[in-house]
Amino acid sequence: MVYVTRREHFNAAHKLICSQWSEEANQEVFGKCANPNWHGHNYDLWVTVKGTPNPETGFVLNTQVLSKIIKEHIIEKLDHRNLNKDIDLEGLQPSSENLAIWIWNTLKPFISQGELHCIKLQETENIYVEYYGD
Ligand code: NI
Repeated sequence: MVYVTRREHFNAAHKLICSQWSEEANQEVFGKCANPNWHGHNYDLWVTVKGTPNPETGFVLNTQVLSKIIKEHIIEKLDHRNLNKDIDLEGLQPSSENLAIWIWNTLKPFISQGELHCIKLQETENIYVEYYGD
């Protein structure tokens, strides 16, 4: 089994708040991410697909095709967008955790060669999340 990863990048705005909480409680839990007037992050995204190399091409999958799929279905929808308003997270917070799950669910139907293995999403220099589909 070989694991192939494609890296992409996007910038997006968000705000993490629980509207039924006090401003103090929101600030305490979410910190700067609760700022009322929004803020942005520079996100790095790693999409990993696993599989056995094709005997003719030597590829698990064509990474140019993978890049096109990620750009079309993920980057176009997230880059320079407002994550609270521009995508449907079904009422969940636009945290990196929920975003990684959304990216997995959005991408999975389009991965026709190999098998989607991991979505890694980095929101800040020191924090990233990984989702393996369960
Ligand atoms: Ni934030």
